[in-house]
Amino acid sequence: MPLVPSYIEALRPYEAGRTAESVRRQYGLSRVAKLASNENPLGASPRAVEAVRRSLEGLNLYPNGGLDLREALARRFELKPENVIAGSGSEGIMSNIVRAFLCDDDEVLTSEAAFIGFQVLARSRGVKYRTVPYRDWHYDLAALAAEINSHTKLVYLANPNNPTGTIFTRREFDDFYRHVPSRVLIILDEAYFEYAKSNPQYPDSMHYRYDNVITLRTFSKVYGLAGVRIGYGFAHEELIRNLLKVKLPFEPSTPAQAAGMAALSDDEFLASSLELNSRGLRQLTSDLEEIGIRVVPSQANFVMIVLPGETEACRIFEELLAQGVVVRPLKAFGLPNCLRISTGTDQDNSLCIEAFRRSYAAIARTNAVR
Ligand SMILES: Cc1ncc(COP(=O)(O)O)c(C=O)c1O
Repeated sequence: MPLVPSYIEALRPYEAGRTAESVRRQYGLSRVAKLASNENPLGASPRAVEAVRRSLEGLNLYPNGGLDLREALARRFELKPENVIAGSGSEGIMSNIVRAFLCDDDEVLTSEAAFIGFQVLARSRGVKYRTVPYRDWHYDLAALAAEINSHTKLVYLANPNNPTGTIFTRREFDDFYRHVPSRVLIILDEAYFEYAKSNPQYPDSMHYRYDNVITLRTFSKVYGLAGVRIGYGFAHEELIRNLLKVKLPFEPSTPAQAAGMAALSDDEFLASSLELNSRGLRQLTSDLEEIGIRVVPSQANFVMIVLPGETEACRIFEELLAQGVVVRPLKAFGLPNCLRISTGTDQDNSLCIEAFRRSYAAIARTNAVR
């Protein structure tokens, strides 16, 4: 009997984006703009950094499983702590959801090219994984509703979506929800919630206190805390009670919890991160379009561009890399002709646009030579 189940053998592990240091070394560059992982270019919330420093005093003690943060979030969102879970990033909680609620004959349903972290987790459970195509790079919620069958256990929706950056509206979600049986669990992944929340059409899932919906959020993006691994989720207390059974008891770590609690009150950092991002989205979108590139309008902290084919996407990726601009190829997501570009500092964004202009000029030259 094989030691490794076939569905694990068939998994392609999650590939993180290139680090700035490895690109700097490979090409002998002095400056690298890492725009590949939707990280916060301003760094981390200063309040969070200070709280992590203070928390180091207690590293000899086991953490309390995120209880302080659960209580703080419950106060902030007018819930009970029993409705809240904190974990090692929202992906940590996603992993618990997959473990707690999926059984062998269950099926997972989502859109094509869903967030790669979710794809890997769901497939690692060995259950059937079904998708429906995007409609103009948006979730086709009507098609998803029509695909729900008696085996469907979990529907995964990211809003805003990674990698497209698009959202579905409140009206679209309401229509969809009417078609979802209560035995089907919906993950509403709101990792990029803060970037979209001021859009009046955006359905902030905190307003949906549905028994079969789990909302996931994170401190990794707008609060700049991807490195400490801290995220949270909201759901009916029955779901949370069962999730807590499978969560590792000492997650999140003490510094992670301290960082999350402090970040929650850092309105100044939140505002400056959002402002920088809006500027970055505007610049990247308009300048890339001016070069003649198809940019999908984004509500998150990145844009997705659509190129004629995989060859062009690889070529541009390599050309940008050689100029110190690291973007994300989306082949692993299932979109080989697309690239994703995170917003950076103003300087990063300008470097990126200049690198695109040079790459396009270089490609035009070689095509002319041929
Ligand atoms: C849609 C989506 N969900 C979840 C995550 C993971 O976030 P975390 O760092 O909280 O695990 C990401 C990170 O890129 C994401 O894009």
